Amino acid sequence: MVINGKQVGLDLEQMDVYNPATNEVVGTIPNGGKEEANQAVEAANQAFKKWSQTTAYERATYLKKLHDLILENQDKLAKIMTLEMGKPLKESTGEVVYSASFVEWYAEEAKRVYGETIPSHVPNKRLQVWRKPVGVVAAITPWNFPLAMITRKIAPALAAGCTVIIKPSKESPITAIKFMELVKKSGFPSGVINLVTGSSSKIVGAMMENEKVKKITFTGSTEVGKLLIEQSAKQVKRLSLELGGHAPFIVLDDANIDKAVEGVLASKFRNGGQTCVCANRIYVQEGIYDQFVEKFAAKVKQLKVGDGMDGVDIGPLINEEGLEKVASHVKDAVEKGASLVTGGNRIPGTGTFYEPTVLRDIDPSMIIMQEETFGPVAPIQKVETDEEAADLANSTEYGLAAYVFTESVARGTKLIEKLDFGIVGWNDGMPSAAQAPFGGMKESGIGREGGHEGMDAFLETQYVSIGVE
Ligand code: SIN
Repeated sequence: MVINGKQVGLDLEQMDVYNPATNEVVGTIPNGGKEEANQAVEAANQAFKKWSQTTAYERATYLKKLHDLILENQDKLAKIMTLEMGKPLKESTGEVVYSASFVEWYAEEAKRVYGETIPSHVPNKRLQVWRKPVGVVAAITPWNFPLAMITRKIAPALAAGCTVIIKPSKESPITAIKFMELVKKSGFPSGVINLVTGSSSKIVGAMMENEKVKKITFTGSTEVGKLLIEQSAKQVKRLSLELGGHAPFIVLDDANIDKAVEGVLASKFRNGGQTCVCANRIYVQEGIYDQFVEKFAAKVKQLKVGDGMDGVDIGPLINEEGLEKVASHVKDAVEKGASLVTGGNRIPGTGTFYEPTVLRDIDPSMIIMQEETFGPVAPIQKVETDEEAADLANSTEYGLAAYVFTESVARGTKLIEKLDFGIVGWNDGMPSAAQAPFGGMKESGIGREGGHEGMDAFLETQYVSIGVE
């Protein structure tokens, strides 16, 4: 852990971190709790006094240095990421570049936090809107993007003038530890960025209770998000929540089928299906259904599964629990009448590997069409009309990402207007970008990360009415 610029926690009980491809221990982390969380909050609170007074230009300089160091260390960071959570090395390298893009973008955006002057209704007043950093921020990050979710949260927070405490997931915390070495080299003042590892309930519980933490930014399950909403009520703590998804992927009959196949491959199998924006339900219009299934399955059969270090397309699932969920969704679908086009089995041997799977003859009664699967399984349901596709897509409490493939501007526009999703990829299976708002409607979250909305999340608005006579 790093608290107030010092490495701490080696004297605490240590927790093992496992490689899901080999079941081997790849490292250990301190099992921190309430005490360490509160120490980190104290450090961040002290550091806030000075950091919040630095100029945007100074903060941008630190962030630019950090950006350069992340890219210089991309191979090391990517390797750690693959070893601790399994994603293929080429994806880990992509994630490092993606992570750095947030740091660069917010280094630039720091200089564009503008206030406002409002025309006054009377001659003796001047009305202004000022922006202020919200204060100490706790960033609680998930295992599936061990670096990008850290930078997507902390880069705008730091740029806005906030100080932070990072709490990484216990499944993939070592990337965060390596990242803190780069933070140190970048020269950030002590206490501006702190890292606490260990028990989520104790650390997050302490941060929720501590009045000095003004904002929580969390990526994870909707279930935990709801708990945080309840806990935040006591102090009206600011929250940004990026929660579960259950993305529909709609292919209309005038789509370019090859483009749609590439799009769904990119969306569905990124990180082995373990992203919040992965296509989870695929709806294909009847005229092209058979052709789409055939072309898509042919590509899926070529995907290589294995240890992320071995040049594969798909790594292991994060743990046994994740694998069991995937297997249970497939079993339920098959029992209810789905046909397996390819895959459908756990890969025997060490590690939590599951075959990339395509299911056809899907209907809405199947659990896979109701819950997020978080694995390499693609269920494809036939739909008749654009309206049916939109209704099915919206028939969920989630509203994070959706995908639409059609070559028609009119059909695409009308369909997307009906979709209650925060992100839509139109003929695009990978819409995420540092400069664009990422986040969900409905139970998929509150607030946005990325883009100028991502900066707003760490700023308070202060209206100042100035009497001039
Ligand atoms: C996520 O799964 O939450 C992140 C995916 C992305 O940033 O594209």
